[in-house]
Amino acid sequence: MLTNKKALITGASSGIGYETAKLFAQNNVNLLLFSRNIDKIKNDIEEWKIKYNIKIEAFQVDVQNLSIVNNVFEKLDSYWDDIDFLVNNAGLALGLETIEKQDVNDWEIMIDTNIKGLLYITKKVLPLMKKNNKGHIINIGSVAGVWTYANGVVYCATKAAVKTISEGIRIELVDTPIKVTNIQPGLVETNFSITRFKGDNIKAKKVYEGIEALTAIDIAEVILWVCSTKPHVQIAEVTIMPTNQATSTVVFRKN
Ligand SMILES: NC(=O)c1ccc[n+]([C@@H]2O[C@H](COP(=O)([O-])OP(=O)(O)OC[C@H]3O[C@@H](n4cnc5c(N)ncnc54)[C@H](OP(=O)(O)O)[C@@H]3O)[C@@H](O)[C@H]2O)c1
Repeated sequence: MLTNKKALITGASSGIGYETAKLFAQNNVNLLLFSRNIDKIKNDIEEWKIKYNIKIEAFQVDVQNLSIVNNVFEKLDSYWDDIDFLVNNAGLALGLETIEKQDVNDWEIMIDTNIKGLLYITKKVLPLMKKNNKGHIINIGSVAGVWTYANGVVYCATKAAVKTISEGIRIELVDTPIKVTNIQPGLVETNFSITRFKGDNIKAKKVYEGIEALTAIDIAEVILWVCSTKPHVQIAEVTIMPTNQATSTVVFRKN
């Protein structure tokens, strides 16, 4: 169904972005992949190209940096002028501390990646989608954008912004065939917590203790589903959590 479509996925080197790229590849979607550490998946890319007979181009892109984002779009082949799916996935949380204890630099990185990076990429792709009168933007928000939690205030604020930006763009595009979806996952076991705790694997493991967390594949499958709906069907938001999670903080853990 998605054969010959074209997708841009940010943050494709790990977790949800990586599994989405893999699942899209298996469904014969051509891929444009951005990440800072994109080399991590260069062997997979070569394998997918051959196995699924698709075009894949991958670039080292830090979405926080506007001139890097502008440069990469300037040098892109015109093949990518009609991207069908933009998956704005690159994002992160840093630290779990009260506002007064949090590192200001961590705030900057979260805001610059999760909000500004998403906007920079969208600003480059949306005019092409409008010109082609087709496309679908899939933003990766979070339950953190729905239910704020203590010690993660700035991360929660960035994901609330993703919710607002998704809604705003959906309103601006109401008279077009272009769809906007905000995916809001709960606990997904990826490198997310290792990044949040700056490499402290023991703290990161604790986040998923006593609960069967979602996997990045679970989220990739939802992304594939929202991208597979009929042209008149727009999935506006998906909030997806493990069965034993009810809000961002209400979690049942077995001993
Ligand atoms: N895991 C969860 O529980 C959870 C829940 C809700 C929402 N989310 C959201 O899901 C998204 C993906 O996270 P994940 O769980 O898959 O974590 P992950 O495994 O740590 O992956 C994060 C991805 O984002 C990329 N990234 C980070 N900063 C970037 C930048 N400045 N420029 C380009 N790429 C950047 C990373 O690539 P490089 O390091 O190579 O750049 C990596 O590929 C994030 O937006 C996160 O907020 C996760």
